[in-house]
Amino acid sequence: MSRKILVTGGTGYIGSHTVVELINAGYEVEILDNLFNSKITVLNRIAQITGKKPKFYEADLRDKATLDKIFNDTQYDSVIHFAGLKAVGESVEKPLEYYENNIGGTVNLIEAMRAHGVKKIIFSSSATVYGVQESPEYVETMTTGGQLANPYGRTKYFIEEILKDTCTADPEFQVALLRYFNPIGAHPSGLLGEDPNGIPNNLMPIVMRVSDGRIEKLAVYGDDYPTADGTCRRDYIHVVDLAKGHMAMLDHLKPGVAIFNLGTGQPNSVKEIISAFEKASGKALPHYIADRRAGDLPEFWANPTKAKVELGWQTELTIDDAMRDTLKFLEHEKQQSLSQK
Ligand code: NAD
Ligand code: UFG
Repeated sequence: MSRKILVTGGTGYIGSHTVVELINAGYEVEILDNLFNSKITVLNRIAQITGKKPKFYEADLRDKATLDKIFNDTQYDSVIHFAGLKAVGESVEKPLEYYENNIGGTVNLIEAMRAHGVKKIIFSSSATVYGVQESPEYVETMTTGGQLANPYGRTKYFIEEILKDTCTADPEFQVALLRYFNPIGAHPSGLLGEDPNGIPNNLMPIVMRVSDGRIEKLAVYGDDYPTADGTCRRDYIHVVDLAKGHMAMLDHLKPGVAIFNLGTGQPNSVKEIISAFEKASGKALPHYIADRRAGDLPEFWANPTKAKVELGWQTELTIDDAMRDTLKFLEHEKQQSLSQK
């Protein structure tokens, strides 16, 4: 069986960690990314960790001709599709860009796959597709697509539906929709981590910027939610555990659509995340209580049973591991920037 995999968005945060796991498991990995939200230096970091530098195409999924050329060059066994825009707030301001990039890009990718006989795809979906549910513990059987808070979330929902339709039209297609909860942490080597271009909007990248002084204080969005300490609770999953979920999925692909939550099953509050970071760093993290952020739900987390039973996958790393690895990544970045001065 061919072990050639195309990873779209492979220089990004989750993609780069997954590429490391793939190479370590003996897959031949090629990356396609337009570097909109990642850096070319990630390729050297991957090489430092694994001893192999993956082939890289600086390309955009919206460019059909280049996609066709890439699929002509190599006969892939499967595709792992991370590439997409993911800033929730920005998606409200620029919905068409999100639809064009995420949905348009994915349609082009599926077309290229079909034209070149590649029929296996793992897609980065999100817990966001569940929208508002009666229970905060999300199970794969719940209906999706209702009351989604933003265009970003809708792109994930629409792409899930497009991939389901693709399978209906061609029963040989093997599709996995992986619904990630909240990825955090970094590679234990400190060489890879979350380093978004521009202003971040997720909790951990902001915590990181507060800790190294790039942002003065963390705004905690509300402490009057109906949770034990009043702050929102989420299911934070270490990015290395998440990457390993893709490995388990690759071993279990079969014709049709498979849907899995990838989360820990254990929620933590914003205050608990701050405390864990402070414990790991030994320093107070400056923060203040701000108003609630529009669209935030009080709490939700994964029911990860299906992945455990069917894929034999479950998380192994803790919040404390994620904080330790995040600090290692921050320290490495600091040393790099000092050595470049
Ligand atoms: P990321 O921004 O670090 O990685 C995405 C990569 O895709 C970037 O390197 C970017 O340059 C690239 N890209 C974007 N549009 C492209 C295009 N048109 N053509 C080629 N490359 C393109 O994000 P991430 O956190 O690693 O997320 C990966 C995937 O997982 C995304 O689809 C995201 O929506 C999804 N996801 C992320 C989270 C999260 O909290 N990080 C949660 C759920 C789902
Ligand atoms: N938060 C703060 N201050 C900040 C940023 C975040 O208090 O500066 C809080 C939020 O209110 C929320 C928690 O930290 O309670 C996590 O917020 P994130 O923005 O990191 O993550 P979300 O849970 O809002 O959403 C993220 C992605 C969604 C995805 C979801 C589940 O942005 O697209 O995880 O995968 F659907």
